[in-house]
Amino acid sequence: MSSSIPVVTIDGPSGVGKGTLAQFLVQKTGFHLLDSGAIYRALAFGAVQDGIALDDIAKLVALANALPVEFIGTDILYNKEDITAQVRTEEIAGVASTIAVIPEVRAALLARQKAFATEPGLIADGRDMGTVVFSTAKIKVYLTASAEIRAQRRVKQLKSQGVSANIDQITRDIEMRDERDLNRKTAPLKPADDAIVIDTSYLDIDAVCQKVLSLVKEQALMA
Ligand code: DC
Repeated sequence: MSSSIPVVTIDGPSGVGKGTLAQFLVQKTGFHLLDSGAIYRALAFGAVQDGIALDDIAKLVALANALPVEFIGTDILYNKEDITAQVRTEEIAGVASTIAVIPEVRAALLARQKAFATEPGLIADGRDMGTVVFSTAKIKVYLTASAEIRAQRRVKQLKSQGVSANIDQITRDIEMRDERDLNRKTAPLKPADDAIVIDTSYLDIDAVCQKVLSLVKEQALMA
């Protein structure tokens, strides 16, 4: 990454509002978007499709190195097939979080993520954007919220898509993923030392968006 490219990193657990904040900042700044979770989900999708065992490091790395994923607007294409809805399932999220523990898999996906940092700038959403992938980013934001509140938001989101959801099951899934993301040895989920930590549990997402936008303006990151 050229350090002259402005990068804003947004890290935190799932369901914390990262995606909403990232989309808002993309609209306001005109910067590119990296949804790094979508890359891990696309790899999970490919691994399931190819019947790769989730502990077969060599095959997972080979797939990661040649991952046929493309991002067109908000669509995720895999081998030119639209998999946007298919990668949003809890099952794929679980597989993504399982294979994301493997250091060799993370290393194989690094260059692909760094390549997103081009003019005029980048909004990077994930777990290790500020700590590993863009460790020299100008602005680092880390969002948090309790697992219960994140589960409630997820259920609401699923219901709005016409999908029925069990709050206890969703809370358990979220806690299990948190556990894996927080405790893995490589690039565990944690705020960078220089990150601004925002608890979104009782904060309106609009307020979070405005707060981060004012930081971007203060730092004069936009042209
Ligand atoms: O953000 P998401 O829910 O789409 O991410 C799915 C999984 O991918 C998440 O549980 C852990 C993994 N992931 C990761 O390890 N590092 C990232 N930068 C982004 C996602």
